[in-house]
Amino acid sequence: MYALFIVSSIFLSFINGGLTIDCPNIPSKWCETKEIAQACGVTEQCTTYVWKTRVENELVNLSIYYETLCPDCRQFITTQVWNTYQSILDIVNITFVPYGNAKELYRPETKLYQYYCQHGAEECYGNLIHACVINFYPKTEEHMPFIYCMESTDGDIETVATQCAQKSTIDYDQITACTHSRLGNQLQHAYAVQTESLQPAYQYVPWITLNGEHTEDMQKQAEKDLIGLICKSYKGSDPPAQCMKNL
Ligand SMILES: *[C@@H]1O[C@H](CO)[C@@H](O)[C@H](O)[C@H]1NC(C)=O
Ligand SMILES: *[C@@H]1O[C@H](CO)[C@@H](O)[C@H](O)[C@H]1NC(C)=O
Repeated sequence: MYALFIVSSIFLSFINGGLTIDCPNIPSKWCETKEIAQACGVTEQCTTYVWKTRVENELVNLSIYYETLCPDCRQFITTQVWNTYQSILDIVNITFVPYGNAKELYRPETKLYQYYCQHGAEECYGNLIHACVINFYPKTEEHMPFIYCMESTDGDIETVATQCAQKSTIDYDQITACTHSRLGNQLQHAYAVQTESLQPAYQYVPWITLNGEHTEDMQKQAEKDLIGLICKSYKGSDPPAQCMKNL
């Protein structure tokens, strides 16, 4: 009876010991696995300095061609893209291309492009604001909350943009200056060129590409379950837990 008790408590402590991971004394081992990093309290540092370089060229490249006021674009960005951003940002490289069905005309007298948008001048202004925000805040973590906020809020563009900038700590004076500058015009032109040179040519917005490719099937899946689509496309090591239930 006594012996059985000893055996079972040894067995129990063995199980517990197997579950608890100790932080090794040698710093070079700290980023070896996610569990070790967590035990050492350096998950953030490992993610930024060590793992990032390892997985960078494995990230799924997702580009979203859209215009700020189209209802389907707003729907897609505030649901599918936002959920993707919140759950699997570590395996996807999200690129926004704010232009969509806009048209441009070069004005030699000012050496500026003039823009015409499907949903009017307000939309052109919205696209320009997004272009400037992405330029000054190029990291997804910096511009995505702003883009999400604008796409999920109704109202006058200037008012909405000001409010969203405040919420996402974007310097709105810098953005306003950009929208009135030659730089803003050039950024918009670059998005025009990028949109017009899509292969195959886009037919509607929002329009996505995954690693530079677009198919009808991919687009349909993206609108239903973007997380699932990206998880399926991810060929890198160590897929995140969020992908497991999707596979
Ligand atoms: C993310 O996408 C942008 C635009 O396509 C590209 O320039 C950049 O190199 C990509 N970054 C990574 C880490 O793949
Ligand atoms: C994503 O784009 C970057 C930059 O163009 C490239 O280096 C990387 O290989 C691409 N990722 C995939 C999975 O194709």
